[in-house]
Amino acid sequence: MTKSMTAAVIKQWGGAAMFEIAQLPIPDLEADDVLIKVAYAGVNPADWKMRDGHLASAMPNAKFPLVLGVDASGVVVATGKNVTEFSEGDRVASATNMFSAGKPGSYAEYLVVDKCRVALIPADMTLESASTIPTTGVTAWQALFGAEKGALRKGESKKILINGASGGVGSFAVQLAKWAGAEVATTCSGANLDYVKSLGADFPIDYKTQSISDEISKWAPNGLNLIVDTISADSLADPVALLKRGGRLVNIATLTDDGDVEAQIAEAKERGVEKILAFVDDASFGAEIREIVNLVEAGELSLPHTEFFELGDVVRAHEKLETGHVKGKLALWVSGDQ
Ligand SMILES: NC(=O)c1ccc[n+]([C@@H]2O[C@H](COP(=O)([O-])OP(=O)(O)OC[C@H]3O[C@@H](n4cnc5c(N)ncnc54)[C@H](OP(=O)(O)O)[C@@H]3O)[C@@H](O)[C@H]2O)c1
Repeated sequence: MTKSMTAAVIKQWGGAAMFEIAQLPIPDLEADDVLIKVAYAGVNPADWKMRDGHLASAMPNAKFPLVLGVDASGVVVATGKNVTEFSEGDRVASATNMFSAGKPGSYAEYLVVDKCRVALIPADMTLESASTIPTTGVTAWQALFGAEKGALRKGESKKILINGASGGVGSFAVQLAKWAGAEVATTCSGANLDYVKSLGADFPIDYKTQSISDEISKWAPNGLNLIVDTISADSLADPVALLKRGGRLVNIATLTDDGDVEAQIAEAKERGVEKILAFVDDASFGAEIREIVNLVEAGELSLPHTEFFELGDVVRAHEKLETGHVKGKLALWVSGDQ
C-alpha cells in the first residue's frame, strides 16, 4: 500500500481560505486502531469552530499541518493487533479521535481511529449516507435519551420542542423523538418547513414569521416536557416559560452568545426546570452509531438531506457551513463508494 495520502489540511488556525490540499504520510496504526480508507467525510459545525481556533485549548495535541473532520464512512484496510471486531473490507461509519487524542481527522484518504468509535454498516446502506450519522446522530440520541440529558424513554407520551430542527442534529432529533413516541414541535425557517414535516414534525413553527411562545402555548397549554435546543443565544425568548415544572431544557449549541449561563441554570432551577448544557460523550460512540444504523436498517429512521462537495472544494463547504443555515448535512466526497 502507498505510504502517502491526499488530505485537506490547515497550517494555522483561521478562515475557510486556510485549507490546502496536500500529501501527508498515512497515520500510524496503534494496537487498538482501525485504518479506514475514507469514502465520505461528514462536515459538522465543530469543524469550522476548530478550524478558526475556537477549540484550540481543547486540542492540546493538535499538530500542523492539521487534518480536520470528526466523522467518516469508509472501508477498513488494516487493523491493530488488539482489534478482533473489524477486518479488512468491512464497511463502516466512524467518529474520529480529533478531540480526545488529537489524531488526524477525516478530511483525508485514510483515517486511523480507535476501534470503539467505529460501527459496521449493513450491505444495503451506502457509504454516502453512513457519513451523515456519527456526530449528529449520536448527539441527538444522547440529548434525548441520556439520563443526565433529556431522559426520554421510549413509549412515553411527551411533548417536545426541537429548536433548530432542520440542521444535522435536528434532523435526527425530530425522527428519534417521534420513534420514541413523543409529540414533536419544531422550529426552522419557512424554506425548511416541508423538510421538517417529512421528518415527522407534528407542529412545525416558522421562527421568522411566527411567535414561538404564542404557538407553543396553543399547542402545549400545560407546558412542554422537554426542549432540545440546537441554536441557543436569544432564539427562544424565555425557554423556561415554555416548560412545565419538572421539564428539561437541553442546550447543545456551542460558542453561542448566551450571557451568564450559570445564573440561568440557577434561575431555571428556582422556576422548577432543569437547564442542562449537554456535550456529546464519546465513550461509547461506536455502539451508539450502531443504534442509529439499526434504526435506519429497520426503516424507522431516514438519513438527513445531504449536500456533497469534492474534497478539493472544502473551502466552499466550510463557507456554507458557517452560514448556520445548512439543510440537513454537508459531507465531503473523498474516495466515494468503493
Ligand atoms: N454539545 C455537543 O456536544 C454538540 C454536538 C454536535 C453539535 N453541537 C452544536 O450544536 C449546534 C447544532 O449543530 P447542527 O449540526 O445541527 O448545526 P447545523 O446543521 O449547522 O444547523 C443548521 C440549521 O439551524 C437552523 N437555524 C438557524 N438559525 C435558527 C433559528 N434562529 N431558529 C431555528 N432554527 C435555526 C437552520 O434552519 P434555517 O436555515 O431554516 O434557519 C439550519 O437548518 C451547533 O452549534 C453545533 O456546534 C454540539
